[in-house]
Amino acid sequence: MISQGPRLAKTSSAVAVVAATAIAFSAAHAKPTPAVDMKAADARAAATVRQMTAEEKVVLTHGIMPLPLGGPTPPIPADAVAGAGYISGIERLGVPALKETDASLGVSYVMGIRKDGATALPSGVAQAAAWNPDLMYRGGAMIGSEARAKGFNVLLAGGVNLMRDPRNGRTFEYLAEDPLLSGMLVGAAIRGVQSNKIISTIKHFALNGQETGRKYVDVKISEDAARESDLLAFQIGIEQGQPGSVMCAYNRVWGEQACASDWLLNKVLKQSWGYKGFVMSDWGAVPNIEAALKGLDQQSGEQLDPGVFFDSKLQNKAAADPVWQARLDDMNRRILTAIYASELDKAPASPGGKIDSAANAAVAEDVAKQGIVLLKNDGALPLAKSAKSIAIIGGYADGGVLSGAGSSQVQGEGGPVVMRPVGGKGVWAGFIAQQYHRSSPMDAIQALAKDAKVTFRDGRYIADAVEKARQSEVAIVFATQWTTEGLDVPDLSLPDGQDELIAAVAAANPKTIVVLETGGPVKMPWLDKVAGVVEAWYPGARGGPAIASVLFGDTNPSGRLPITFPASEAQLPRPKLDGSDWVEPDFSGGPSSGSDKLVADYDIEGSDVGYRWFARKGTKPLFPFGYGLSYTTFESAGLKVKGLTASFTVKNTGQREGADVAQLYLVSRAGQAKRRLAGFQRVNLAAGASQNVSLTIDPRILADWKDGGWSMPAGEYSFALGKDAEMMGPPVKVRLPAKTWKD
Ligand code: BGC
Repeated sequence: MISQGPRLAKTSSAVAVVAATAIAFSAAHAKPTPAVDMKAADARAAATVRQMTAEEKVVLTHGIMPLPLGGPTPPIPADAVAGAGYISGIERLGVPALKETDASLGVSYVMGIRKDGATALPSGVAQAAAWNPDLMYRGGAMIGSEARAKGFNVLLAGGVNLMRDPRNGRTFEYLAEDPLLSGMLVGAAIRGVQSNKIISTIKHFALNGQETGRKYVDVKISEDAARESDLLAFQIGIEQGQPGSVMCAYNRVWGEQACASDWLLNKVLKQSWGYKGFVMSDWGAVPNIEAALKGLDQQSGEQLDPGVFFDSKLQNKAAADPVWQARLDDMNRRILTAIYASELDKAPASPGGKIDSAANAAVAEDVAKQGIVLLKNDGALPLAKSAKSIAIIGGYADGGVLSGAGSSQVQGEGGPVVMRPVGGKGVWAGFIAQQYHRSSPMDAIQALAKDAKVTFRDGRYIADAVEKARQSEVAIVFATQWTTEGLDVPDLSLPDGQDELIAAVAAANPKTIVVLETGGPVKMPWLDKVAGVVEAWYPGARGGPAIASVLFGDTNPSGRLPITFPASEAQLPRPKLDGSDWVEPDFSGGPSSGSDKLVADYDIEGSDVGYRWFARKGTKPLFPFGYGLSYTTFESAGLKVKGLTASFTVKNTGQREGADVAQLYLVSRAGQAKRRLAGFQRVNLAAGASQNVSLTIDPRILADWKDGGWSMPAGEYSFALGKDAEMMGPPVKVRLPAKTWKD
């Protein structure tokens, strides 16, 4: 039985176990709109289910992808909006159709079928680098408002898979490697989306840690480790955000497809956590009709599955068997609960709504500014606006900024400024492409350094770039790492000879600044040679001005890494990505017919994802989790811990206004070294100003999951304020009693 797999005893994760949540919502993190009330909606949903006919009970349970993708396409209803999904409504009962669009960064362009532009937020990891739930809320509210104005009532947002491997092609879409940070941030984003009276998902549930073989990769992890890591991120996100829907994942867990995993969907999500909304499948992730009994409530994008299962076939099962009948009623009740909780029926979304593009762009710009991380500065930054000559090299920085690809791809008005296919033929050509948002860093730099002669070299020819760098006061190299859904990167190097380019430019000009536009961590063999490094991620619709603002000091950088930057792949739990040499077997009978050869063994690191793995191994990354520089200096001091409350003071000890991210870590428990983020708060401070911070520590952060519940040993717990996950202040001890509890 699958459900037994995850209950296997802990293996290598015995050393350090993590579970975290700290609710740091003081006034600065006040919830602008309360989460939806799923409980009240549930009662109304139950009443509607009682009125439904047998035929009506299989309307909400399945739907199509309403896009002409080539190949057999089911008829597309007249009221459908080009997007990821369409689920018919039930007019007689006043139940609206569900109109679904991707994703967490904005309303997606669905392979060019949409002609209207949308506002692109920076990538997920860039959003998370601000460590700012308020900002996540604003970003979510903004993209949700655009979804609604375009006629959608479901936004397939809330991507929160833990970053177990920095080579994951979707790292850019996700938030962090830490469950507390991920959960708090995704919860805020979901509240923002749903404040528009539309449904948000949280996805992809769960343990969808890589794209290589994503429909077949079989994840092995003990239940204990999963509860303390990936599942905890979802748990906190669901508590904080109350999403109407949970999207289950492509991968398998202990041999079962995640969308047909009784353990994940029934036992953990619905029974243990008491989740009241519905589970929708990922597109093409449903193996069979039995998935319904395993907890799946709705079949999405059904033409992509081996068959349509949740239609009349489900009706027939229900007519013949009371167990199926009860399940079908529950499926409807859950979908209706989400619909009523977000008032989809009372406040219908329709296309043609008003969009304040300037205001929305300002939100995207603010997110980019707060999420940019200053990684190195030998004093060259901020740049002087009086600079006479600036050489800009590479990254199409004359035209725009890079974005990540796949279902989350957003296009602005007028489309991308550069669209570079990665394949020459077939489905990949033009569909999965490197797209640059129309937001020129070069123009923005010129606007701030008005008298400078700003020149651009594309970086294809090193000698040519070097010559320009030599002639200029400052050289800024824009280095890119394009990543996409569907493909992992083979390693963490910058592609296309950019390392050589940077090294050569740095040798020619001591004032060389590297601006990285990457999906996630990259290696930097040239780090010692350059004067400054700015991680701008994929900075979204207003990336150009945001980057320029940080370079020239109009914005004091305040981003902190939400993911460790390893020095090499050899430091990772899996130096070689599982499946990178895997030969795909014949899946002609559908995903489930494939062999089990591709296994991802997450018990190697267990719940010690990211910085916890580095702490356990005692290895030094290139840049640690939580790291980021500023143009001012901060000091956090006076830590006091009383029970589960920590308080301390943050002071801006420098000359400029800026924001710090205070980070509280558990560093030891009952005599054993630990490293767990226990709380955080972003603090804005004028030069010389200070602020008292108080954080409430959720006990899950201090506990292990064992024997089916949370468990804290009695003893001394030591906490420290960290500049990042490596550089800790003095530890402060508190004695806590033993405690065990259920979810
Ligand atoms: C992705 C989901 C997305 C869905 C619909 C899938 O391939 O994994 O994140 O929401 O497609 O486009």
